[in-house]
Amino acid sequence: MIYLDNAATTMRKPQEVADAVMAAMGSLGNAGRGASSGALDASRVVLHCREEMARLLGCPRADHVCFFANSTAALNAALSGLVGQGDRVVTTVLEHNSVLRPLARLADERGAEVAYAGCDEHGLLDLADLERLVTPGTRLVAVTHASNVTGNLVDMASVARIAHEAGALCVVDASQTAGAVPIDMSEMGLDVVCFTGHKGLMGPQGTGGMAVAEGVNVRPWAEGGSGVRSFDRRQPSEWPTRMEAGTLNAHGLAGLSAGVAYIEKVGGPAAVGAREHAMARRLYEGVRGVPGVRVYGAWGVDAALCGGIVALNVGDLDSGEVADALAQGWGIACRAGAHCAPLMHRALGTERQGIVRLSCGWFTTEEEVDVAAAAVREIAAS
Ligand code: ALA
Repeated sequence: MIYLDNAATTMRKPQEVADAVMAAMGSLGNAGRGASSGALDASRVVLHCREEMARLLGCPRADHVCFFANSTAALNAALSGLVGQGDRVVTTVLEHNSVLRPLARLADERGAEVAYAGCDEHGLLDLADLERLVTPGTRLVAVTHASNVTGNLVDMASVARIAHEAGALCVVDASQTAGAVPIDMSEMGLDVVCFTGHKGLMGPQGTGGMAVAEGVNVRPWAEGGSGVRSFDRRQPSEWPTRMEAGTLNAHGLAGLSAGVAYIEKVGGPAAVGAREHAMARRLYEGVRGVPGVRVYGAWGVDAALCGGIVALNVGDLDSGEVADALAQGWGIACRAGAHCAPLMHRALGTERQGIVRLSCGWFTTEEEVDVAAAAVREIAAS
């Protein structure tokens, strides 16, 4: 199989990740619960992962890294923990439903006023539109670091500057970038960064979390066992316990730590991102200009803003048909249809057709993208 669906999940993981999960499965107790050697080992694994993630994301306090099952859960917790009755929130048409739907609920239930910054015909965020919408008194600006449809990157330092000038917080969906694009939340001025473990971080599914800047008061999202202050009526307020009710996924976090260590060993997120970009660029070069093939995103205008994705359609073929042809004819795994990002599809005019998304990862090879480009050319020719 030629795996080009790394934007959905990195299916091939470093062997170290699998080894770490297997070792953890047979040896860990429950982190923060009790003082048996297994429980203490689990606590050490979780703490180590917090420290690794804090270093990777430039979060000054490891105890402000809180773990969740995925970035969707972290985004829900961050948004509902920060947005109050009648607050104004600005987001963008690039967003995934993991931002759009929690905000829709907050609009319905708390009267939040949500505004959506637009994009240009390439799907690039219109920063001037965002700046216009972020009026003084805006509570929060929620923006993806990269579109999961086109792979277009967003200049998060500028988004954070716009947010802070209006007194708003900046919440980032780093689902598509953590591990594959350098992030320094202190330097970039980010207040909350939500990440998932199973994509660029090369960890197991079921891992993810949020990193929160000091002084940002995200209200607890759930109450339950905390392992400390058992006689308190409500969830303890200290970090990270305030956000982590219930048993943590220490087995998964052992794997996530191994993923982060692997990324650092091979040169860090910049090196991972550069490889993904190089593979995607090669794929793009192989299909650009082919009659009938339309490529979305910034490849034709500013390749520096492109990640590891080549998003395309062939004529007016349904994207699902093209994906099926790629799978059946060449064994290529990709994703088609709508990518949980309805406003992005609306902006690109692909609500009915969907988009064929070919996404490269650290383990993608030149041979694989060459086969994919040839396959797209053949489908277009036929
Ligand atoms: N959000 C993931 C994707 O973009 C699953 O495919």
